[in-house]
Amino acid sequence: MTQEIRKRATLTIEGEDAIDLPVYSSNLGPDVIDVGKLTSQGYFTYDPGFVSTAACDSAITYIDGDAGTLLHRGYPIEQLAEQSDYLELCNLLLNGELPVPEDQQAFVHTIKRHTMVNEQIRNFFSGFRADAHPMAIMCSAVGALSSFYHDSLDIDNPEHRKITAHRLIAKMPTLAAMSYKHSQGQPFIYPRNELGYAENFLHMMFATPCEDYHVSPTLARAMDRIFLLHADHEQNASTSTVRLAGSTGANPFASIAAGIAALWGPSHGGANEAVLDMLDEIGSVDNIPEFIARAKDKNDPFRIMGFGHRVYKNYDPRAKVMEQTCAEVLEELGINDDPALAIAKELERIAREDEYFIEKRLYPNVDFYSGIILKAIGIPVEMFTVIFATGRTPGWIAHWCEMIADGYKIGRPRQLYTGAPKRDYVPLAER
Ligand code: SDX
Repeated sequence: MTQEIRKRATLTIEGEDAIDLPVYSSNLGPDVIDVGKLTSQGYFTYDPGFVSTAACDSAITYIDGDAGTLLHRGYPIEQLAEQSDYLELCNLLLNGELPVPEDQQAFVHTIKRHTMVNEQIRNFFSGFRADAHPMAIMCSAVGALSSFYHDSLDIDNPEHRKITAHRLIAKMPTLAAMSYKHSQGQPFIYPRNELGYAENFLHMMFATPCEDYHVSPTLARAMDRIFLLHADHEQNASTSTVRLAGSTGANPFASIAAGIAALWGPSHGGANEAVLDMLDEIGSVDNIPEFIARAKDKNDPFRIMGFGHRVYKNYDPRAKVMEQTCAEVLEELGINDDPALAIAKELERIAREDEYFIEKRLYPNVDFYSGIILKAIGIPVEMFTVIFATGRTPGWIAHWCEMIADGYKIGRPRQLYTGAPKRDYVPLAER
């Protein structure tokens, strides 16, 4: 996509001619300096972790980290959480506009018609140990979907991209529930098309062939809200992984599997599981000061999981909605004395009054309260990141579709070389 040059930047390097660089203006947020010509001038930019690098242009999600703002296609996450639902947000992320009722009904109908996975996929699960981490299973199972949808898939055909998006959104809950059932040694439960999206997921997770199983509307609503809050988040590590893998023209199911692998890390989507493990380790509000001290100790690798964010230097707006949802769900379930919640709230209170956290602008992020809700819903801790991956699927595939539709170059960063200068080989006998 060609950008309109709105102003220019001049880079002066001592002893050399000034370098003129175009500047493009965004619709919201920082302008960007196009540094593409620097290579021809003998320079690379240097930005480990891509703290100040815009790797692409995108119209899907906007984040203002200082203001704590998150917009999906311009709509604030708070309003979407309050008034929309997960499948409507999936439609919005993919197509750019809030759907009219008949379009949303058609979208939901289509998703419901793609919830089953090929029966042969069941054979993949028999190869995993019962104690295999479900994220390891999801990396493999979603990657395996590429073996069912490859030869007939033309990524340059918009209709093929659309059905790929529908298949992934529809099949992720089915595969997620299968990864849980495998760990329990229970039979897989087929999707039920008369159920809502989150209701169907919980039914596949907890129903058995032995008796009818009815999903609590409270839990289904909470599950839908959790999926919605995880749906997309600009160019985060896993979405950037999907874009980089997809930029080679790779199969989209394989590219999403790469994103799942990136999400698994405790610095990213693995943090929700790590938060519950941390709260269990803290064990009591009396122990919080010790852990706060450890988090501040440069020599101690311990960090407060669910705190801090690369972009948000204010409260993550999703964390606020998550905390409200947490209170609603626990109250509706009559859980008033959840020790993990008591420790989490006290930990947040103490951290946010602590000079270290204030100075480094560390606030709770999306992962801080999500695990407490998931635990209340009955989701086991090892499934928390699988829930995150399921929720994030529309974001991943919307970014992949946007990249392919807008035209793209293969992603290929450079480096600051710090290795040995050129030298001649020394035969073994002469060393
Ligand atoms: C997600 O990018 C996204 O959008 C991600 C996500 C999404 O929706 O896709 O929002 C989902 O990944 C949320 C983040 C989940 N991870 C965690 O909760 C893990 C704990 N948080 C940290 O590991 C950290 O805050 C990161 C990884 C999230 C962000 O790291 P950055 O941006 O690289 O920042 P940093 O590590 O350089 O931290 C800045 C400073 C450092 O101190 P100094 O080197 O300046 O002295 O803050 C400190 C850090 O030591 N710090 C923390 C801390 N997080 C940062 N200190 C204690 N506890 C923490 N949690």
